Amino acid sequence: MDIKSYLKSRKELVDSFLESYFSASPAVPARLQESIVYSLSAGGKRIRPILCLAAYEACGGKTEDVVHYAAALELIHTYSLIHDDLPAMDDDDLRRGKPTNHKVFGDGMAILAGDALLTEAFYLLSSEKYAVVSISPSAVVRVINEIAVGSGMYGMVGGQAQDLLSEKEEPDAGTLSFIHKCKTAALITAAVKSGGLLASCSGDRLRGLESYGQNTGLAFQVIDDILDVEGETEVLGKTAGSDEKKKKMTYPKLYGIDESKRKAKELVDKAVEALAVFDEKAAPLRSIAHLLLERKN
Ligand code: IPE
Ligand code: IPE
Ligand code: MG
Ligand code: MG
Ligand code: MG
Repeated sequence: MDIKSYLKSRKELVDSFLESYFSASPAVPARLQESIVYSLSAGGKRIRPILCLAAYEACGGKTEDVVHYAAALELIHTYSLIHDDLPAMDDDDLRRGKPTNHKVFGDGMAILAGDALLTEAFYLLSSEKYAVVSISPSAVVRVINEIAVGSGMYGMVGGQAQDLLSEKEEPDAGTLSFIHKCKTAALITAAVKSGGLLASCSGDRLRGLESYGQNTGLAFQVIDDILDVEGETEVLGKTAGSDEKKKKMTYPKLYGIDESKRKAKELVDKAVEALAVFDEKAAPLRSIAHLLLERKN
C-alpha cells in the first residue's frame, strides 16, 4: 500500500462529495452559500474524514458506503476553523492559503457560515437519503452521539474555550493537555471511532480505535504547535508565529521544541501500538500516524 496515493484517493472521494453536496441552492442566500463554499473548497488535508474512512476499512467496511458520514466531519472541522480565525478568537488573516472567511465575507457571514456548517453536518449524518442497508439506524445514532460529544462543550468547543481562557497564562501541564485533548483530539477520536461504529466494531477493537484516535489527535495538535514555531507561512497556508503573538499556551512554550517533538513521537508510537488487535487492513491508519511526524502543513 502506497500511503500517498491512498490519501489522495480518499481525499478525492470526500472532495467530490462535498462539491456536489454544496452546489448552489435557490433556497439558500447566495452570499451564505459562497461563504461556505469558499472555506470548504480552499483545500485542507481532509484528515478527519480520511481517518473515519480508514477506520471503517480497518474493520472490513466498503469505503463508498460511508463517504457522507466522513464528509460531515469535515463540515464540523471547517466550521471550527472559520470561528477559530475570527477577530474575537485567534484573529488570523490567512487560512488554507487564502484570506480567512471573515476577511472576505465579514464577521457576521463568517459566524453564520460556521453555524450552517455545524448544523448541516448533523442534517447529513441523520439523512435517510444516503443510508445503506448494511449500517443499522442504531449505529448511526451512536455515531451522531460520538460526534456531538467530540465537537461540543465536552470536546472541541470546551477546548477552544479553555484555549481562550489560557491566553497569556503561565503554562501548566494539566491545563495544556486538557486544551489539546479537547480542542483537537476529541473530534479526531470521534472521527476514528465513528468509522469503527459504522462497521459494527466493538469491545477491544473499538477501544483500540479510541486509543489510536486519542493519541494521534493529541500528536496532531502538538505538531501543529511545533509548525507554528518552525514552519513557513507559505507552506502552512496560515500565518506562522500566530501562537506567540496571541500568547497561547502551547507544547513548545512549556516543553521546548525538542521535548515537544519527542512527545509527539511517543504519542504516535502509542497510537500504532493500540492497533495491535487489527490486521493489515489497518495499514493506512498505521501509516497516517507515522506520516504526522513528517507533515509540513
Ligand atoms: C488545523 O487543522 C486546526 C487544528 C486542529 C490543528 P488541520 O491541520 O487539519 O487543517 P486543514 O483542514 O488541513 O486546513
Ligand atoms: C485550533 O487550534 C483547533 C481548532 C479546534 C480549530 P489552533 O488555533 O492552533 O489551529 P490553527 O493553528 O489556527 O489551525
Ligand atoms: Mg485557536
Ligand atoms: Mg488558530
Ligand atoms: Mg495552531
